[in-house]
Amino acid sequence: MTSNNPEMLREYERCREIVDRSLEKCFTSAGIPHRGLAEAMRYSLLAGGKRIRPVLVLQFCRACGGDEEKALPAACAVEMLHTYSLIHDDLPCMDDDDLRRGRPSNHIVFGECTATLAGDALQAEAFSLILNSPLPADRVVRMAAYLAEAGGLYGICGGQALDIDGEGRCLEENEITEIHRYKTASLLKACALIGVSAAGGTESQIKGASRYAEALGLAFQIRDDVLDCTADEKQLGKTVGSDAGREKSTFVSLYGVEGCRELVRCKTAEAQEALTGCFDDCGFLAWLAGYLAERTA
Ligand code: IPE
Ligand code: IPE
Ligand code: MG
Ligand code: MG
Ligand code: MG
Repeated sequence: MTSNNPEMLREYERCREIVDRSLEKCFTSAGIPHRGLAEAMRYSLLAGGKRIRPVLVLQFCRACGGDEEKALPAACAVEMLHTYSLIHDDLPCMDDDDLRRGRPSNHIVFGECTATLAGDALQAEAFSLILNSPLPADRVVRMAAYLAEAGGLYGICGGQALDIDGEGRCLEENEITEIHRYKTASLLKACALIGVSAAGGTESQIKGASRYAEALGLAFQIRDDVLDCTADEKQLGKTVGSDAGREKSTFVSLYGVEGCRELVRCKTAEAQEALTGCFDDCGFLAWLAGYLAERTA
């Protein structure tokens, strides 16, 4: 199935729009103690982005026969947590990048203090939102637990710490894979499992979703590292050459751009195969993996 499939692209767009419409309403109510902080949160949250994490939540829920609308708060929650991680990732104490989602990074506009707090608050709001999902309590608890694991020591934070530690050092393949697994694949896996849980999916669906997202997560970060070397800054909407500038070891430094393309193809096929036999209709999820492998932003 080619990535340029109009029916699949329409379905992706439909999910993105549902998520964007829902996020647009966040942090606008009366009684917000600090309007500037809410403005900073909305600035990064509503700056666009591919929304692949919420799309994964909605689509895994669908693939397991669940009610998409009931998974929408969880879908918005994962995007909030992801946006927090991007705001912090760009801070001068981390990657020190000035451009994100086609706009000046959060700290460039609002200052480091507000950007730090905007990230912190987005993370807390993500949990508030997911915990208020209109689903049975046992499913909600499981979804929140997946998000907590992906956000913390055994997920993004652990991975980001390894990533920063690795700057200026020549890492081996297994070390880079570990960083990618924690900093990127962990949240993508949580999204898949949150979608399955929202629908009350089976053990076999949990296994299939895990394997799909682990492979997709690795492919996704390798593609991100390739784009950091090859993409156009305008099209990418974020700083290019950031990894080389900070002397990060990536798969590109190990295998070159062509070697990475092959690796991405291989991991993408692995993700697609993991879906087989677990879901009634997984056409979109299979297509999405291929689409992301060829993305240019
Ligand atoms: C960027 O994620 C950070 C990585 C994990 C590579 P995305 O490429 O999904 O960023 P947005 O959400 O589209 O801006
Ligand atoms: C960071 O990876 C992934 C996160 C957990 C935010 P990168 O540092 O490569 O992400 P970009 O390229 O800045 O989006
Ligand atoms: Mg980084
Ligand atoms: Mg970065
Ligand atoms: Mg990157």
